[in-house]
Amino acid sequence: MARKVILDVDPGVDDALALCLALFDPRLEVVAVTAVAGNVPADQATRNVQTIIEQLDPPRWPRLGRALPSDVGEPANARHIHGADGLGNARFDVAELHHLHSSEKVIADALRTDPGDISLICLGPLTNIAAAFRRDPALPSMVDRVVFMGGTYLAPGNITPVAEFNMYVDPPAARAVVQSRTTKTMIPLDVTSKVSFTYDFLDQLPDDTSRVGRFLRRILPFVYRAYRQHYGLESIHLHDAVALQYVLEPDWFLTEEMAADVEVAGELTTGATLFDRRVNRQWRLNLEVATRVDNAAVSQAIVRGIRQAAHAAGA
Ligand code: RIB
Ligand code: CA
Repeated sequence: MARKVILDVDPGVDDALALCLALFDPRLEVVAVTAVAGNVPADQATRNVQTIIEQLDPPRWPRLGRALPSDVGEPANARHIHGADGLGNARFDVAELHHLHSSEKVIADALRTDPGDISLICLGPLTNIAAAFRRDPALPSMVDRVVFMGGTYLAPGNITPVAEFNMYVDPPAARAVVQSRTTKTMIPLDVTSKVSFTYDFLDQLPDDTSRVGRFLRRILPFVYRAYRQHYGLESIHLHDAVALQYVLEPDWFLTEEMAADVEVAGELTTGATLFDRRVNRQWRLNLEVATRVDNAAVSQAIVRGIRQAAHAAGA
């Protein structure tokens, strides 16, 4: 029986690649794909979700959710890594922009329809999850599990010295989800940055005869240029695709139950994920954290998953 999931995304090239994998994996039933502001502003994230679904045309189209504009001033973005349009400046046309319900409503309605059966796979800031939980306080008990890409355990941040991007964009939302009474797993930079994709990965992509190959070959090159320009690296990370592997193959990850919280108002530490490691711990255990990964198995599975998606999607 395929596992029901909702993917909450801020596409974002690595979000888009994770969607490629999820939409064509027989182990998953993607009930909905909900947009959230992060790598790009809300409207662009919503447009990108529609673009990705149109380009990939999966056998079953998921419900789509619209990202609501951020209520925090001029939020951070990652356009320098993902392109001004968030999809590698591929400049896709969108056939038509549908009128969509808000992401928080799509999430809330889906959880109420299938209480206990749906996992929330969060690959962007946790704005929508926190909003849905605020909207309906019974929802945390209706989630199978929240799995989110974000935070750091011992690793440095990527948007500040101590904060990871998804947590940094909306710290109050991240704190609300980390403190919520539901089963949660955090896939931090400690793990997702251990899996690197060199230029060989581009060569291994399906060719242009497949819809998936054409799509990925349009969005990935920008990220390689960006990683070289901004980080001096000759490889890239696909944080969200790695996080999705935890859902598919959890045994490839080592996890530890921790007592966590999120800084929401530190001059230097906003968005940092913090852990009570004291011998006389005072914080309650509230979060499973991935601390190790079989990076070879994960990177091979991502290459294999893309090939399977290309075969399933066809031309
Ligand atoms: O820090 C990496 C995360 O931030 C990824 O989800 C990436 O897509 C951005 O959202
Ligand atoms: Ca993301």
